[in-house]
Amino acid sequence: MTAVGIDAIEVWTGNLKLDLPGTFAPQKGEDPEKYTKGLGLNASSFPDSYEDIVTMAANAAHRLMERKGLEPDDIGRIDVATESAFDNSKPVSTYVAGCLEQVFDGDFHHANKGERKFACIAGTQSLDDAYNWIKAGRNRGRAALVIATDTALYARGDAGEATQGAGAVAMLITEEPGLVELSTEQGYGSADETDFLKPNQQFPSVDGKRSVKVYLARMREALEDYESVAGDVHPDDLAFIPFHTPFPGMVRKAGLLGYRHITRDTAIEDDLAEEIGRQPRAEAFDDEESYHDALREYMDALKGTERYREWYAQTIDPTLEVSREVGNWYTGSVHLARTSALKHALEAGRDLAGETLLVGSYGSGAQAEIHAETVCDGWEAEIEALNVDEQLAARYDMSWADYEQIHDAHNHDMDVDVEEFTAPDAEFVFDGWGRMGERKYRYVD
Ligand code: CAA
Repeated sequence: MTAVGIDAIEVWTGNLKLDLPGTFAPQKGEDPEKYTKGLGLNASSFPDSYEDIVTMAANAAHRLMERKGLEPDDIGRIDVATESAFDNSKPVSTYVAGCLEQVFDGDFHHANKGERKFACIAGTQSLDDAYNWIKAGRNRGRAALVIATDTALYARGDAGEATQGAGAVAMLITEEPGLVELSTEQGYGSADETDFLKPNQQFPSVDGKRSVKVYLARMREALEDYESVAGDVHPDDLAFIPFHTPFPGMVRKAGLLGYRHITRDTAIEDDLAEEIGRQPRAEAFDDEESYHDALREYMDALKGTERYREWYAQTIDPTLEVSREVGNWYTGSVHLARTSALKHALEAGRDLAGETLLVGSYGSGAQAEIHAETVCDGWEAEIEALNVDEQLAARYDMSWADYEQIHDAHNHDMDVDVEEFTAPDAEFVFDGWGRMGERKYRYVD
């Protein structure tokens, strides 16, 4: 069977940065450690006044196509996943194609374009669509371009304001990929939930505490569903577990829950039993409350064990390194987590070819999906080509007053003009409005 997966990835961050412990926390009168230790975040990325979901997507895709030596004719499909769209009819992918046609010879007139929506899981769903299209033999030898792009902004004063972010991840999906091969097996956990939504409004309505619970419940359901088709997952078989990362503290909770689940009835549970006892089983309790109390107690103890801490440091923590510096990229977030893990492995000189990643995606509303990925031979070259660190270091560090201005500049209900903080350099920029209310873009050399 032909292998299908991600051949290459490119990342584009918003050009501005908000220092959370240094600039945000003092304004909120909060302890900086709530951000660095609690939420696990150092900074958020923001778009400058000339950036938006289209420029970030087009810039990531441009880098990807140039690096891979591709022409528009090589691409049979452009799918953009976003929850920050500004048009209910014309998809972002048409704007992105228009941008790319400014810099490449040829056009994308024979590429199928679309836009995927299911909160943050839409990026992974677009990967699925591309995978299915290639597996069905409908791609005529061409690749799919999947781009996850978002400006994750919250209303000023909302608890989510601490977890904002902006950026895009572009992925090339092909046969015989160079980075990771996707598993056929998938697991889903999906239910009608009201945790986070944007009913035709720019900033989300969020029930933050509930959203955390829903994330964990759906992720657990997805894991069980995945195991029902792929067999039991064992912690020692996984190189990394990239999760959707709204903020690293969320993944800390997911990692612990996942570890408890996948170590049940294994030698690891037996080994740990001497130290913290065996995992509570529902049948041993008279009521649900005492079972849940016992589970909480077990999880608290598990979190402190050397064995768990080592596993977490090796398997989960490396997926969070980039996210800590950029905040939530919604649809791109889980794909950034994968990138972060592979970058970490490259820097550590680890040979990952043939190893397995278990990828946990999530979208509010709500759905989780779990699939596996096998790292391909030659993956190092794809990750070496990234310039994530340079991009992060080049961001303009905003003062509180700058932040207030830029948040207003991106607020659709406000009409404010803000001078750009950075000078665009070899990138697409927003260039004003057309006669039908369309957005215009131009490439700046
Ligand atoms: N030192 C160390 N830790 C501290 C601390 C300090 N001084 N002060 C607080 N903390 C810890 C808290 O104990 C807490 O950690 P635990 O949950 O492990 O106990 C953490 O820091 C956060 O503190 P709070 O819970 O008090 O923070 P909050 O109530 O202000 O906001 C939030 C947290 C509700 C998640 C909020 O950020 C939010 O609404 N975010 C948006 C929604 C979201 O991201 N939800 C995630 C799941 S939904 C999803 O994944 C989809 C998506 O992308 C949006």
